[in-house]
Amino acid sequence: MTLQTPLPAAPPRAAPPCAASGAPAPALPVIEVEGLAKHFQMHHLGQRLDAFAGIGFTLMPGQFLLLTGPNGAGKSTLLRTLYRSYLPQAGHVWLNTAEGRIDLARAADVDVALLRRREIGFVTQFLIARPRVAAEDLVAEPLRLAGAAAPEALETARAALAEFGVKRELWAAYPSTFSGGEQQKVNLARALILPQRLLLLDEPTASLDAGARAALLRRLAALKAQGVAMIGVFHHPGDVAGLIDAELNLDSRETRDVAQ
Ligand SMILES: Nc1ncnc2c1ncn2[C@@H]1O[C@H](COP(=O)(O)OP(=O)(O)OP(=O)(O)O)[C@@H](O)[C@H]1O
Ligand SMILES: [Mg+2]
Repeated sequence: MTLQTPLPAAPPRAAPPCAASGAPAPALPVIEVEGLAKHFQMHHLGQRLDAFAGIGFTLMPGQFLLLTGPNGAGKSTLLRTLYRSYLPQAGHVWLNTAEGRIDLARAADVDVALLRRREIGFVTQFLIARPRVAAEDLVAEPLRLAGAAAPEALETARAALAEFGVKRELWAAYPSTFSGGEQQKVNLARALILPQRLLLLDEPTASLDAGARAALLRRLAALKAQGVAMIGVFHHPGDVAGLIDAELNLDSRETRDVAQ
């Protein structure tokens, strides 16, 4: 893909490859957030609601950042801002993509759409089911868009549905009639089928049974081992305790490293 957003004036932070020793260049951060601020203007009340300000952190490949804070602290708003569903009022969201470094806070919409397809995943609690699209086709779609042959994509999709505990008789059915938990399993199978560079997770375990929570944990651990950076909100962080590298508390605005 070719990005349309003009490349930043800031120099890339990568050290040049060490030709003499043949050592690989150090990995680049996946995401560098600087001074990020988001507020909502509530025109009908003549008020401004500050969701967050002064947010900054860096994540390397395979690192997992846990977002914490009470209801209304701004966790979902921060994830949506990183996904560029919301535009921030200040700050930068530098993403090191396959095509170079780009500031998501300023990227062209067309680039945001491409990056969402190939490099940034976002899992919420809700499946966006499409009318008359079978569960297995919904799950296989990201693989097919990435160039996989239809039979292989379908086979991988069925394996993912089985892993999350979706009953075999539902694979060819339409998810719009599924239970909340079943829909969430399809949602996760689809969202996690391709390793992306950055994965955003907003309470993905909310409606899952124990088997599906365990499957999610296995999948997240595998993606982390493949270098996927993750930022997540979990109301039961114990579910992912073994994966967490750092915690950002949106109430206190403190970031702390978590010893593994
Ligand atoms: N589109 C919007 N317009 C106006 N205010 C909003 C909007 N989205 C969120 N807010 C407000 O921003 C604040 C942060 O909301 P957010 O959903 O990010 O909280 P949260 O930390 O995810 O909470 P929870 O734990 O309940 O999910 C809340 O006070 C909310 O009312
Ligand atoms: Mg939320």
